[in-house]
Amino acid sequence: MRTKLVAGNWKLNGSLDSIRGLIGGIKAGMDSVSQAGVAVCPPAIFIPEVAALVEGSRIAIGSQNICEQDSGAYTGEISGSMLNEFGCSYAIVGHSERRSLYGESDDMVAARFAAARRNGLKPILCVGELLEEREGGITEQVVGRQLDAVINLEGIDAFADAVIAYEPVWAIGTGKTASPEQAQEVHRFIRGKMSALNATIAENLVIQYGGSVNGSNAKELFGMPDIDGGLIGGAALQAEGFLAICQAAD
Ligand code: PGA
Repeated sequence: MRTKLVAGNWKLNGSLDSIRGLIGGIKAGMDSVSQAGVAVCPPAIFIPEVAALVEGSRIAIGSQNICEQDSGAYTGEISGSMLNEFGCSYAIVGHSERRSLYGESDDMVAARFAAARRNGLKPILCVGELLEEREGGITEQVVGRQLDAVINLEGIDAFADAVIAYEPVWAIGTGKTASPEQAQEVHRFIRGKMSALNATIAENLVIQYGGSVNGSNAKELFGMPDIDGGLIGGAALQAEGFLAICQAAD
């Protein structure tokens, strides 16, 4: 049985003051979430503070990115061992904003996925198509290529300890959500592709949906057979809204 996972990707948002309020609010409502896994992915500089704030709760911490290298002359980067030391258990890799704004290629994303695993972090591998790719009918080709880069480097067995987040780029931060059916179609494709390589791993693999998920649309999305929770951006910045999404995954 897969357990649904809801992870909040805070992106470049927050202050010491606001994150204290946000974590306080989430913690206060966690009694209403009994099954689903809950994680928050703060900007890296806030990770130690968030680690102290979530102590004793079942809120996990993820990073928004990770360097493919473990140490050395890589100015501005953060390694897996550093993230691990400060309490992270997940690492988002290949978010579409990293791919499009910071030029992370499929190969770099695969190397970052590998770095997460070798440092004891569960990668949350983001995949998803641009609007023109969807309109051009090549969604499966694009998502398949993004997955193949990781499978070719790390092998299918690596997905026993990983999460995939399907995030259609056109639905991120736009208020346009993929319909539950549209999302399910791609989730089914992803699970099917993994299943052809290892049916057990595919069956247990958590595949999140991301892209304008909120308290009103989460239940329907998470009700689809291959959607196992969500990666949440904007709606994760407010405790009440985030909790409503966590409850929808429960
Ligand atoms: P959004 O972002 O929920 O604001 O669309 C999702 C994401 O980028 O992970």
